[in-house]
This record gives sequence, C-alpha cells and structure tokens, in this order.
Amino acid sequence: MLSFKILSIFPKYFVSPFMDGLIKDAIDRSDLTIDVMDIRDFTDDKHKTVDDTPYGGGPGMVMKPGPIVSAIRHAKSGEDDYRVIVFSPRGRKFDQKAAKACAAYRKFILVCGRYEGIDERVTRFYADEEISIGDYVLSGGEPAALVFIETVARLAPGFVGNSQSVIDESYENGLLEYPQYTKPRDFEGHAVPEVLLSGNHKDIQEWRSRQAWELTSQKRPDLLASSGTYTGDVPARSDKKSGGKNG
Ligand code: ADE
Repeated sequence: MLSFKILSIFPKYFVSPFMDGLIKDAIDRSDLTIDVMDIRDFTDDKHKTVDDTPYGGGPGMVMKPGPIVSAIRHAKSGEDDYRVIVFSPRGRKFDQKAAKACAAYRKFILVCGRYEGIDERVTRFYADEEISIGDYVLSGGEPAALVFIETVARLAPGFVGNSQSVIDESYENGLLEYPQYTKPRDFEGHAVPEVLLSGNHKDIQEWRSRQAWELTSQKRPDLLASSGTYTGDVPARSDKKSGGKNG
C-alpha cells in the first residue's frame, strides 16, 4: 500500500487529478491512498494565518513554520516511517533515477510551499528531502506534488497493468523510448515502418533499439554523455546501423 499525504493551503487544487486513470484504479483497489490536508486547519489564530513577512526584509511573504510542522505531526500520527518531502525550486532535481530512489519508500508527506517559500527551519529540521521538478519557478509546490505522485506510483508493482510497458518507457534504460505506431497501416500517405509488419521479433527488437539510440542522440544527447545521471543498462553503440528513411 502506497500512501501520500499532501499538505497545501489550496486543497481544492487536488480535487480532480485523482478521479481518473491509473491513480483512480489504484485507489479503488486500495493499493494507494491520497489524503489532502489544509495547512490552514493547523493555524491557531482566527484569521488562519499561514504566512508572515521575512526577517531581514525583502519582498513577499514566507510561510510560517508552526502550521506546517503541526500538519506534519498530525499526518504522521506517531508513525515514524513517513518520508517528508518539501517541494521547492531549490531542491534536488527530480528525474527517473530520483523517482526510483523514492519508490523504496511507501509513505510520504508532501509539503507544498507558496509565496516566497517556506521558513527554512521546516526544510532543515522537519523534512527528509527537498525536491525540484525542474529548473523553473512555479507559483507553488502543488503541481510538483502531482508530478511526484504520478511518477512514484507508476513504479509500484501492479500500478501499470503491463509491467513491460514500464520497462520499455523513456529513461528506463537511459534512452528515450522508440517510436510507436498503430492502425491504420497508412495514414494520409504516411506508412508504418515495414519492419514492424514483418512479424520478425528479432528484427523488430533491433530496429527499436536502434531507433531509441538515434532519437536520444538527436533530441537528448545529454542523456548519452556519461554524466552519471542515468545508470541504466545502455546497449553498446556498435549496434547502430543506417537503415534508410524509417530505420
Ligand atoms: N515550487 C516552485 N517551483 C518549483 C519547482 N520547480 N519544483 C518544485 N517545487 C516548486
């Protein structure tokens, strides 16, 4: 059972995203629970204040530590096996490798910041990890929490019906996924590559792996550089042949 507890000041943001698709299926099977908690419920003043001006001056408001830490404590309800994650553009970049590392955990508390950020003491002393979903600035951590849940849940056994489709996906072996085609065989004069109609599994496999290499070197050459980011079992480059327009 996977469990995500989301702490946000905009709980309505999460109303529809979990009502469809594989996430809903997993919730219906009781393989997944998602609880959205409103940080304002953990304030102690009548205005439900969650933010204040920054010490040292400067623009904008900062989220106060008290309500967030109370919400984290409530979410844990005495259990220590939660992974507490704060979303922020300053965090460790979230990629497939990071998602796999996170998938080792089953229970998460996801803290969504707003305004200019959250009081540093929350991240330092009450969270296990600070994660960024990319080098850009969102208005808050809510979209990041959605991306995180979707990516980590996909890695849980049984979440995706056909486990081979997870293995073949982009990034799984350090490459982008090969191109896919379905019916019709000819769409407005654009034919499906002949090899895919051949029924020869070895040829199809070879074509797909060559395509994955070529697509990756065209679109994301950075993935091929031995940067150490991707540790997948990357096929040897010697299998790269020139195969005409479609191969
Ligand atoms: N909050 C604002 N920007 C963010 C980002 N890029 N990733 C995660 N949380 C964020």
